[in-house]
Amino acid sequence: MTIEESQAKGLWSRLRVLLGVRDSRHGFSEVDELGIRIPPARLRFDVAGTNDLKWFLEGGRLGLGTLVSTLEKEKLDLTSFDSVLDFGCGCGRVLRHLSDHSETRLHGTDISRKGIAWADRYLNFAEFGTNKLKPPTRYRPDSFDFIFAFSVFTHLSHDLQKSWMKELRRILRPKGYLLITVHGTHYRNKIPDELKGEFDNGKLVVTGIHQNGSNHCAAFHPEHYVREHMAKESGFETLQHAPRAALGNPEQDVYLMQSI
Ligand SMILES: C[S@@+](CC[C@H](N)C(=O)[O-])C[C@H]1O[C@@H](n2cnc3c(N)ncnc32)[C@H](O)[C@@H]1O
Repeated sequence: MTIEESQAKGLWSRLRVLLGVRDSRHGFSEVDELGIRIPPARLRFDVAGTNDLKWFLEGGRLGLGTLVSTLEKEKLDLTSFDSVLDFGCGCGRVLRHLSDHSETRLHGTDISRKGIAWADRYLNFAEFGTNKLKPPTRYRPDSFDFIFAFSVFTHLSHDLQKSWMKELRRILRPKGYLLITVHGTHYRNKIPDELKGEFDNGKLVVTGIHQNGSNHCAAFHPEHYVREHMAKESGFETLQHAPRAALGNPEQDVYLMQSI
C-alpha cells in the first residue's frame, strides 16, 4: 500500500467513525453504494433465508426488477402510483431500492418488530409499522394504489390466506393492483409425498402450521387455488400469472391482480 493509499484509508476510517458508520468486520453495520445502512445478519436472514450480504442487496434489486417488469406488461409505471405498500417487508430488503421514488408515499408493514424497528430507524424515505399475524392492519380503506407481498403468503396457514386477501382488498383502492409471490408447481417436489395429491387437485398445502407466519411454515399454491379462492373470493381479477418469475424470491410464481 502506498503512503497516499494508507492516508486515504486512515481518513476514510475516521470519517466512518464521525458519520457513525461502523465496520462489519467489527460486528457493526455498513452502508450500501447509495449510503443506505445495511441491516445486521440476523435480520437479513429473516427475509432472505441467508446472511449473504451480496444476495440481500442483489435479491432486493431483483425484487424491484420483478415489480417493474410485471407492471410494465400492463403498461403501468411504479412511479405513477401515489401510495404503495410492501406487505411483509421485514427490514425493507426491496423497499430500500425505492429510496429515489420521492413522488410516491412508500409504506412497509410486517409482524417482525425487530425488522420494522430497524427499517423505521434507517430507511427514512418510507413509513413503517407492525401488524399482527391476523388482520386487520392499521390502514384506512382505499389507502393504496399498489400493494406487493413477496413471499408472505408462502408462510401463512389456510385461514390466513383468505383473511389477508380480504384485508389487502379493503386497504387497496378500487381498481388498485396487488402483486403476490407464492410457491407454485416448481416447488411441488418440496411437498411431502402424502400431500402431493392435494396440490395436484388444486388445493392449498401448508406444512409447519404451528409456526404460522415464520419461514418454518411453508404454503404451496396451485394456480387454481390462487385464481378461484384467493383472487375471485376476495374481489380481485387475476391479470397475470408468471410461473417462476419472482427473481428476488427464486423461483416463486408471480401473480398480478386488480381489485374489482
Ligand atoms: C420470506 S420473508 C420475505 C420478506 C420480504 N417480503 C422480502 O422479500 O424481502 C417473509 C416475511 O413475511 C412476514 N410475515 C409473515 N406473516 C406475516 C403477516 N401475517 N403479516 C405481515 N408480515 C408477515 C415475515 O415476518 C417476513 O418478514
